[in-house]
This record gives sequence, structure tokens and C-alpha cells, in this order.
Amino acid sequence: MKKLFGVFALVSIISLAKAQGLQSFLPSGKYIGTAVNDNFFNNPSANGADYETIVKKDFNVLVAENAFKMGSILANKPADPLNLKLSDLNLSYVDKLISFTQSNNIRLRGHNFVWYAFPPSWLTTEAANWSEAQLYSFTKQYITLLAGHCKGKVAEWDVVNEAINDNSTPALRSADTWYAKATSPQAFIDSCFYYAHAADPSADLFYNDYSIETSYSNKQSSMLTVIQGMVDRGVPINGVGLQCHFESGVNTGDWVYTEVGKVMDKLGVMGLKCNVTELDLRICGSASSITEQADEYKHFVNILLTKSNCNSLLLWGFTDKSSWIPGFFSGCGEALIYDNNYQPKPAYTAMKEALQASNSVKITNANSIAAVVYPNPSTGNFMLSSSADILKISVFNVQGKEISVVENVKEGFGENFSQGIYLLKIVDVYGNERYEKIEKR
Ligand code: G3I
Repeated sequence: MKKLFGVFALVSIISLAKAQGLQSFLPSGKYIGTAVNDNFFNNPSANGADYETIVKKDFNVLVAENAFKMGSILANKPADPLNLKLSDLNLSYVDKLISFTQSNNIRLRGHNFVWYAFPPSWLTTEAANWSEAQLYSFTKQYITLLAGHCKGKVAEWDVVNEAINDNSTPALRSADTWYAKATSPQAFIDSCFYYAHAADPSADLFYNDYSIETSYSNKQSSMLTVIQGMVDRGVPINGVGLQCHFESGVNTGDWVYTEVGKVMDKLGVMGLKCNVTELDLRICGSASSITEQADEYKHFVNILLTKSNCNSLLLWGFTDKSSWIPGFFSGCGEALIYDNNYQPKPAYTAMKEALQASNSVKITNANSIAAVVYPNPSTGNFMLSSSADILKISVFNVQGKEISVVENVKEGFGENFSQGIYLLKIVDVYGNERYEKIEKR
């Protein structure tokens, strides 16, 4: 009697609930997301009714553009900053986003605990009068309270944001930060990760920065040295976030994708994840077009799909109606995938096509064949039993990459595959399809 490999038999069919949005085409374990702006929290429809609809349809991970920052949460000076209480933290937007993501089965990313820039307006003056021990005490209390409040609800945190100097010497910022009293900025950063880990051991902890995406920036080698040191010391860090704020058509040549892939591999060797955390591709003058931009967005989707240590691709907003770009880069805009009227741009279509082309999910007509594939316990081959003639079987690895196509399968196949788990797409001569997962032992 042929034995079903039952535990794997029901996987690989993605829920139809949010059918046709970007996230519905993702393989399991991969996330596409967006930052949500502050208006969203007061009234999700304040941006236009379509904002919330699009968020729910397209994305399975969210991050707040500003609401989780210390500059927002401690905007009002606490009565005693060195004796922080949970009630000193303004968590109204934090709680709204937690509730929204939980109700809609969306992953939540926290950005961020510690950032040298945009601190609460009172903090820099106050911290200048603290001892180093008081600085550490304040930081520990803040991270412990916030991470503890969000425990089990925020899946990953940017623990420290943009701590590396732009000009690379010294590697870490110090004098221009509110934490300048830390005699060793590295020891201070390490401590932030320890505090976050102690408060929520299950959250993934990230270091996040810009200009670390390519080796053409001096910052990248500083980052790799800093992060390798943290790994070697056993600091609880799980990954690095590449912000990826790029100018379309200028710093988005093919070399960028190769470079991003390389740094992901380098971090992978350290045992770390590497996510794209703030992607936007601004258009400035005639340097690019929304068609060229579309191709660039597609490349980032392919990075997400093919790099095993890249789980998430987050955009820094999704609609040109609400983006930091025009206010920050004069003469630039149109950086995102929906236009000012919430209409999808070519970039959106390109992302969707890249996801569909990955063949790693199936939405329609799935499992309409009575076919079974099971491992032969003695040979390790995959055995096929089917009610109809099989045209071909495509074999995918767990990253969703197609590694082989087997045609005219009569019975056994797969003898050359190494041990591991594979996804099979079985197509019969009538075009019906079936998906199965199987383990080669
Ligand atoms: O909410 C106040 C509002 O009450 C006030 O009237 C208005 C007047 O300027 O300011 C509003 O706050 C602004 C806030 O965005 C919300 O719109 C701040 O001034 C402004 O500084 C803040 O800018 C944010 C910036 O980070 C600083 O926190 C941008 O929206 C946000 O996109 C940007 O995000 C950063 C990431 O965190 C880190 N990586 C780079 C990225 C882009 O700069």
C-alpha cells in the first residue's frame, strides 16, 4: 500500500482570502509590506477610503512610518525621565497598529528603539546632563517598557537605526547623538540589543541603515565590521535592514541588484537575515520614467524571492499621495507604486507579474488532479501515482526557485535531488494542476 507523506500534502495553496493583492502571490515565509503614515491612525480613511483597502489587500507586513519612534512615543517630557513609567509612553498609535495587524493577520515590524536623529525635543538637552550610567539606565527602561508592552505582537524590531557614520571614520556616530555620553557607542548599541532581547526573546532584532546596500559606499564595510563584531560577541542580533532609498535611473543600474545580493550573502554567512526595509525609487526630472521604475521594482521582488535570508520587502509608503520624498528631495517624487489617486502604477503591475512568474504559488484550478507523489522508502526516489497522464512536474526548492522540470513522468523520478524539502507542481495532459510538498531523505 502506497503511503502518503500526509504532513506535507496540504501545503502550498495560498489562502484565497486576499486574492489578487501582491501578498497573495507570495510563497510562505516571505512578506511584502509598507510603512503606514500618521493619518492612518487617527482615521484610516483620512487618506482616502482606498488607503486601508489597499493596505489589507496588498501587504502582509506593516511598519509605522513615525508612530513607533521615540520622538513620537516620548514627545511629551516625562515627569522623571530617569524613572520612566509605562504611562509616560504615548502608545495610542502603537496599540492601534497592533490591533489592526492582529485583526487582519498582518505581521508587524517595529521601527525603532534608538535613533540618533529626530529624538524627542527635550532629550538632547536633558541627556547632556546625565552621567553615562544614567544614559544606560534611561535607555534600558525605555526599551524594556516598549518591547515588553509589544511582546508577542511585534515580530521584529529595528533596535538601532542609522548608527554608522556616513564618512566611515570613526565607524560609529557619537558626538552628534543624544547618547554621546556613551564612552563606547558600540557597547551602548550592544546593550540596546540585550535589553530588547530580554524584554521579548521571541522578536527578531535588526540593525537598520541607509547607504549600506552596495560596496561602493564606505559605510558598507563599516557595517560588516560592526555587525560581525556583534555576532562574534554573541549579541542577540538576527538581521540587518537595508533601507534602499534610491533614485530611479541614477543609482539603480543592474549593478545594484548584484550588490544587494552580495551583501545579503555576506550577512547570510554570519547567520543573519537581511531585509529590504524602506524601499522607494524616486524620480527626479527626466532621469527616469515610471516605466523604467517598474523594471527596478521588479528586480527587488526577485531579490526577495530568491534570497533565502531575505524574508521581507517593505516599501516606505505605497502611494505618491503620501511620501517623504518631495519634502526632502527637491524636484523629486513619484517614488512609490500607487499614484496620487490610488491607481496602481506600472511598478505595481511589474511587482505583481514578478510574483506570478515565480510560479511559487497557485491560486486557480489547484489540486484538480487525483495524483499522489510519495517517497520510495528504500530508493529515496519520488514515486508517482495518477489517474491521468502527467505532462510535466516542476520541482521548486523551499525558496520558491524552480530547480528542475521532469517531463513524461511514468513512475519514479527525483533520484538526483539532494536531501531536503521540495515543492512539486504537477500538470496533467489536460492542463489540470496539483501542488505537493515532499521530502527527499
Ligand atoms: O506630526 C507632526 C505634525 O504635528 C507637525 O505639524 C508637522 C510640522 O512639520 O510635523 C509632523 O511631524 C513630522 C513627521 O514626519 C510626521 O509627518 C516631522 O516634522 C517630520 O520630521 C517627520 O519626518 C519623518 C522622518 O523620518 C523623521 O522622523 C518622515 O515622515 C519619515 O518618512 C522619515 O523616515 C525615515 C526613517 O525613519 C529612517 N530612514 C529614513 C526615512 C526617511 O527619512
